[in-house]
Amino acid sequence: MKTLSDLVNRVQNPEPWSEGDNIPWNDPEFSERMLAEHLSQEHDLASRKTETIDRHVEWIFSEVFDSQSVRFLDLACGPGLYARRLAEKKCECVGIDFSPASIRHAQDVTAAEPDLGCTFHQEDVRNADFGEGFDIVMMIYGQFNVFQRDQGLEILKKAHAALRPGGKLLLEYQTLEQIQKGGESGPSWYSAQSGLFSESPHLVLQENFWDAEAKASTIRFSTIDAQTGSVNSYALSNEAYTESELVEAARAVGFKNVQRFPSLSGTVVSGDADLPAFVAHK
Ligand SMILES: C[S@@+](CC[C@H](N)C(=O)[O-])C[C@H]1O[C@@H](n2cnc3c(N)ncnc32)[C@H](O)[C@@H]1O
Repeated sequence: MKTLSDLVNRVQNPEPWSEGDNIPWNDPEFSERMLAEHLSQEHDLASRKTETIDRHVEWIFSEVFDSQSVRFLDLACGPGLYARRLAEKKCECVGIDFSPASIRHAQDVTAAEPDLGCTFHQEDVRNADFGEGFDIVMMIYGQFNVFQRDQGLEILKKAHAALRPGGKLLLEYQTLEQIQKGGESGPSWYSAQSGLFSESPHLVLQENFWDAEAKASTIRFSTIDAQTGSVNSYALSNEAYTESELVEAARAVGFKNVQRFPSLSGTVVSGDADLPAFVAHK
């Protein structure tokens, strides 16, 4: 547990990943609170709102799945909001995520629809065995950038090995410009009676950093408990790739015919909130 004094004396410009690699998605209590954020229709933070997910699923099914009943692997699938909708189109899905509450939710929802061919595994994608013979492997919502470069490349390599010949990778990523802009945006704070970081009244102070040399941003959240004054901090970093670096990384592990799309809707719908995606073939 940290104190206000630790907060005042904190490192001013942290090295990327030096204060942790991500917020604690896999902590049981944090993951319960995060599940509420995934399912919220108030914002697009952990998962997008239903309307956007529905639009994305239609595009993914027609443009990436070629409207076929494919077998697909959803990496960092969260509560399975995309996976379930695609499985309802007679596709067979395997989802991997390390959040206990998200995987429980995905399993509960799909168990209620016994005809769906869905399996969800609570595992860290950095260590998980991806299996093999998939038609499609997908990782969406910019999650790829949260992994350090060597881990990202290992994930691409395992995704390639998990695909059947001719199979496709769908990767929705954050651009270098988006990551830099986030890292260069000023600090902010809010107070809450309860929220993602705590069930008790607290303050959340957010600082953002951009390391131009490392091409990585860091976001640090410092929370202060209103009653005790105790401080906690969490940090996550994002690895920024130029588009040619990303295409080169995919080619280096064996992907070919890399095609870029401006968003998972195929077109730009919501400007800055859209992330681009590429589809690469094995
Ligand atoms: C922004 S959410 C996106 C969830 C889902 N893809 C969606 O769009 O609704 C990122 C997800 O990545 C998961 N995640 C982060 N790091 C992970 C890791 N190392 N292994 C497995 N899952 C991870 C989190 O638990 C979270 O569910």
